[in-house]
Amino acid sequence: MKKMLNPFDCAGQICEAMKKGILITTKANGKVNTMTIGWGHIGIEWGTPIFVAYVRETRHTRQMLDDHGEFTVNVPVESVDSKILGFCGSKSGRDVNKIQELNLTLEEPISVSVPGIKELPLTLECKVIYKQKQDLSAIPEHLLQRYYPADETGFQDYHYVYYGEILNAYLITE
Ligand SMILES: Cc1cc2nc3c(=O)[nH]c(=O)nc-3n(C[C@H](O)[C@H](O)[C@H](O)COP(=O)(O)O)c2cc1C
Repeated sequence: MKKMLNPFDCAGQICEAMKKGILITTKANGKVNTMTIGWGHIGIEWGTPIFVAYVRETRHTRQMLDDHGEFTVNVPVESVDSKILGFCGSKSGRDVNKIQELNLTLEEPISVSVPGIKELPLTLECKVIYKQKQDLSAIPEHLLQRYYPADETGFQDYHYVYYGEILNAYLITE
C-alpha cells in the first residue's frame, strides 16, 4: 500500500537522511540495481519538481541510467539497517545482485518501471529529463584535488548530474 505525499513536504527529511545515505534504484534490461547516495537535492526547474542526483562515471548505476532513464529514490523513515546502506554503497551491481543478497522487498511502481524498496519506505518515482557531465574547469582547485584526483592513467572519475522529474512521492506502508 502507498500513502501519497507532496514531495516538498518531505524535502527536509530527504536532505537530513542524505547525511547517512539514501538509495537510488535503477532498472535496465530486466535487472534492478540500487546504490547509496549522499549527494543530491530536491527542487524546481522548468516549473517541474525535480530530484537531482550526482553519479560518478564508473558507477554501474550511471550505465543503467543511460540505458533506461528512470529511477526511484528511497529514504529511510525512523531507522534503517546500516548494513543496507553500507553494502549498497560499496558493492557494484556489476558484480553482485544487491537486491537478492540483502533480500530487499520491491514495491510495484505507479508511473515508472523501477520499483521502490520497502525497507526505506519514503519513495520518489523519477524520470530523467536532463543530464550533464560536470565541467571540471568550473570547479575550484581545492575541490578538484579532493574529489577528482587523476589516477595513474590520467582518468578523473567525474560526476554526471541527473535531473529526475518527480512523478510520484509516497510512503510504502504495510
Ligand atoms: C554514504 C555513501 C554515499 C555515497 N554517495 C554517492 C553519490 O552521491 N554518488 C556516487 O556516485 N556514489 C556514491 N557513493 C558510492 C556508491 O554508492 C558505490 O560506489 C556503489 O558501490 C556503486 O554501486 P553501482 O556500481 O552498483 O552503481 C556513496 C557511498 C556511500 C557509502
